[in-house]
Order: sequence, then structure tokens, then C-alpha cells
Amino acid sequence: MENVRIGIVGLGNMGKAHRACLRAGKVSGLQLTAICDRTTNLPPPEEGEAQFADVEAMIASGCVDALLIATPHYFHTTVGIAALRAGLHVMVEKPLSVHKADCERLINAHQGSGQIFAAMFQLRTDPLYKQLKSLVSQGELGSIRRVLWDCTDWFRTETYYTSGGWRATWKGEGGGVLLNQCPHNLDLYQWLFGMPSEVTGFCQFGRYHDIEVEDDVTAYFRYKNGTHATFITSTGEAPGKNLLQITGENGLVTVNGRQVTFQRNRTSMSEFSLESDAGFAKPENWSIDMPVPPGTASHVEVLQNFTDAILHGVPLIAPAAEGIHSIELANAILLSTWKNRTVPLPMDSLQYERELHNRISSSTHVRKPRSVKKLTSDDFAKSFK
Ligand SMILES: NC(=O)c1ccc[n+]([C@@H]2O[C@H](COP(=O)([O-])OP(=O)(O)OC[C@H]3O[C@@H](n4cnc5c(N)ncnc54)[C@H](O)[C@@H]3O)[C@@H](O)[C@H]2O)c1
Repeated sequence: MENVRIGIVGLGNMGKAHRACLRAGKVSGLQLTAICDRTTNLPPPEEGEAQFADVEAMIASGCVDALLIATPHYFHTTVGIAALRAGLHVMVEKPLSVHKADCERLINAHQGSGQIFAAMFQLRTDPLYKQLKSLVSQGELGSIRRVLWDCTDWFRTETYYTSGGWRATWKGEGGGVLLNQCPHNLDLYQWLFGMPSEVTGFCQFGRYHDIEVEDDVTAYFRYKNGTHATFITSTGEAPGKNLLQITGENGLVTVNGRQVTFQRNRTSMSEFSLESDAGFAKPENWSIDMPVPPGTASHVEVLQNFTDAILHGVPLIAPAAEGIHSIELANAILLSTWKNRTVPLPMDSLQYERELHNRISSSTHVRKPRSVKKLTSDDFAKSFK
């Protein structure tokens, strides 16, 4: 195969952005041959690009080798399963699915290593997070004692929430900030630190917006070795912040926006504590401002990697199967809040699915009418990360 022929499913904000990038030839070896949206507002057709209103027809058409799924989250599962069963390669937008049981169903439809199945976790390509990953995994920081991630820079307005009927409802989206904005942070979290053994969550629902799902979250993650983490997020705080602090044996790394500082201990804290004769002393430390290589997170890099995996067998940046972890964390935070108890991991996926369905069937929330400006693709292009 010289080129991979890809079809995009879901021509909303994200699908249109992917289409523009592919039409501009930014991904070598990836040729856009079809688009599909179940609404009638498909863009005017371009040469060599078939249009479909039904994804099954697109899959059966034979004009695509791969599918890029950019529909609302619940359809990631149904569309993904149909595509994988038909033998297509699949790139799915984040989140992998809405809940763990759907992730399991989707992952089970993957037919093996010859079929490439990847997820759009483009923050893994951000030079800042790549640098953190190597710092943590190469042991430079020593074993991790504590993590604090306060990522409250996801401010969203009422207009945002009314821009799509599926947004911020249990039925249409299956959650709020944990399902829409934070899959990125939760994916990076588990990529950097692995999965905890227990999760305790404190969510507030519709605290800042006229929505039924969570827009304010504080969560506590515990590990068997005593390491623990606090994860905070919200779509209602401005200016908000993105502050990540990692305490390891060898010091403290603080990531504040794009600035990374490593306060490095001359001696590891445990060793110093055991060996020092003084009662109130601390290990000497140096403060290093770590240079972050230029560049930002890139959808194009993830799509190029997907194409190269199909054509040349290169390893994936974000295998789709890894997307189950961010969903399990998000689900466990919600379940813990609903049940007012700590949730041990691995979580019971079917219990969570039942609890979510209870929320869907008992939902009584109706948005108060207000006159809003419709969000355009331009607004979206200016603002999405
Ligand atoms: N990677 C990122 O940074 C990023 C950014 C934004 C959105 N996303 C993800 O992209 C997905 C779409 O988000 P959006 O903001 O573009 O939503 P959107 O509402 O703007 O667009 C969704 C489109 O999918 C279409 N659609 C719905 N069901 C369909 C089906 N069964 N078959 C075909 N088309 C269908 C809708 O008609 C709509 O045009 C979400 O899962 C979201 O999490 C990812």
C-alpha cells in the first residue's frame, strides 16, 4: 500500500479541523477519500472525496482503508466496533469511549497487530510532557512520593455548553469535564505515573453552569506503595491554572504552564533522613529551570504516526487500548462521588455502566432558555487545545 485512504466520521468542530489538515496535505501517506456525517450539513464535496450520511455505507463502500472517528463520544464505541470488525484501521478521538465497559467492547473488537488502532491523545507529543516522561521513567527524580495536578485552565462558557445538544448530559456525553476536557490530563497522568489502586472523588455537578454533569472535581488517588496524588479540575474557574508538582526521592519538579523547575536534592530525602546527625536539616538542593524544547502538542504528529504504523510498522504514540485507563480514572471519580466511598481499581465496569444508565433514565434536567450566540468552527479553531 502506497497511501492509506482514510474516511472521517463526524464533521463537526474536530472532524472539520482534521479534514482541513488532511486536505492541506499535512500528513504524508494519508489520503482523505471519504467523509461521513449523519446530518445534512456536510461541506461541499471536494474532488476525490465521497460523502456518506451513514457510516455502515461508508465502511462497505471499499473506498477507505482506515477511519478517523470524530463523533460524540458514545458513537466512538459503535462506529469503532463496526470499523474494526470490517478490518479497517481506526483512529479514534479522545475519549476512547464513555465508560469502561464500552472501552472493553471496543478493544475486544480489535483483530490483532496487523490492524492499527490508535487514539488521538496529542498531548503525548508535547515536548514538555515528553521531557517529563523521560525524567520520571529514567529515574532522575527517584521514586515518586506525591503528585499534585491542578488543571483548572479548562474554562468554558454557557455558550459552549449549548453549542451541541449532546454536550454535558448523561445521555449525550456521559459526563462533563472528566469526559470532555480531562481525558487528555488523565491520559498523561496514567502515562507518567501508572494507575493507582484506589480512587476517591468529590465532584460537583452543575456548580458553575446550567448542566447536569460535573464541572468541578477534586480527586484523590492512592497507590499500594503509599504514593498518593491529588487531581483537581474545573471548567468554571478563570483564569485557572495548569500546575503539576511531582515530589520524588531526588527533589521536586514544578510545572507551571510551560515553565518547568527541578529543585534537585544533592542526596535523596530518605538517605539524608537516615544519615543526617542534625534534627532540622534538609538535603542541599539546586534549583534548575529546565529548558523545554520548542513545539506544542500536534494532531498532525499523531496522524502521521498512525499512517507510519500502517505503512511501515512504527510503534504507536497512543495505542487505543491505553485509552481505557483515563476512562477508568474518570469513571471511578464519578462512581466514588455518587456512592460516597473509595473505589478500588480495577473497577467493576458493569456496575459503573448500570449507575450511569440510572442517571440517564432518571435525568430531569432541562436547560433554562437563554439567547446565545452560536459557536462557530472559527471560535473552536481559536480555542481548542
Ligand atoms: N483531540 C482533541 O483535542 C479534541 C478536541 C475537540 C473534540 N475532540 C473530540 O472529538 C469528538 C467530536 O467533538 P466535536 O467538538 O467535533 O463535536 P461536534 O458536535 O462539533 O461534532 C460532532 C459531529 O458528529 C456528527 N455525528 C454524530 N453522530 C454521528 C454518527 N453516528 N455518524 C456520523 N456522524 C455523526 C454530528 O452530526 C456532528 O456533526 C468528541 O469525542 C470530542 O471529545 C477532541
